[in-house]
Amino acid sequence: MQTQVKPFSTPPTDGHHPIPLHVAIIMDGNGRWASQRNLPRLEGHRAGTENVRRVVQAFARWGVRYLTLYAFSTENWSRPKEEVQGLLDLLEATIQREGKALHKEKVRIRHLGRLDRLPPSLQQAIHEVLALTRHNEGLTLSVALDYGGRDEIVSAVRRILQDGIPPERVDEVLFARYLYTADLPDPDLIIRTAAEQRLSNFLLWQSAYSEFYFTPTYWPDFNEEEVERALTAFAQRQRRYGGLPTAPNGAPHP
Ligand code: IPE
Ligand code: IPE
Ligand code: MG
Repeated sequence: MQTQVKPFSTPPTDGHHPIPLHVAIIMDGNGRWASQRNLPRLEGHRAGTENVRRVVQAFARWGVRYLTLYAFSTENWSRPKEEVQGLLDLLEATIQREGKALHKEKVRIRHLGRLDRLPPSLQQAIHEVLALTRHNEGLTLSVALDYGGRDEIVSAVRRILQDGIPPERVDEVLFARYLYTADLPDPDLIIRTAAEQRLSNFLLWQSAYSEFYFTPTYWPDFNEEEVERALTAFAQRQRRYGGLPTAPNGAPHP
């Protein structure tokens, strides 16, 4: 059976549509978007940050409760110094500007990743936006910034050892509580823009049963129609979690 999703202009309100609870996005292609226009790479990053609000709003209208955006990876430090600096400056300005706008829309903002290597002014901007939005009850927006899945797992192992947890008490539930995503559901849908089909160290543990959606569209061009396309593709997936598919009445398929 194919499930139809209504057009983005009329988001579903009856709760019967298979909308993912948590969508995570690898926002890729800013550099290529800029090159295509003979612009410096940083102009692509600027356009990328300007795209965040409309995408957050679009997913919120569809009823998605958790959105996670991959903004800067633990490997992105290896880019030229000027690009890293420019990117971090842009992210700081975006957090300050969009934080206030998103606060008005009841968005709760979280940070995933390391804080200790970020410039102090960016750390400060993050602390402020988390404090400003912490009691909001709308969409939860997690920003992965100096985030790496391997770094997250290693840091969890370290803290489990530091806490003196005996080996027999370490199970999947306990382990997940030591990750940056401790209070988030696993992503149901992971979207990657700009044609690459890889995780690039994003949510390695949490993506165990995520559905993947890839689009050639560069991140600055990922708009409301693209959001609808991704959600429509998700609605047609059949998730099994290693089991067997069930019929609509809940009985196992013959
Ligand atoms: C994504 O765009 C933004 C970050 C990784 C920070 P890129 O900068 O990776 O753009 P491309 O992949 O070079 O086009
Ligand atoms: C992944 O994109 C990281 C972010 C989107 C923040 P990259 O452009 O860094 O990934 P690779 O290098 O192509 O794998
Ligand atoms: Mg890239």
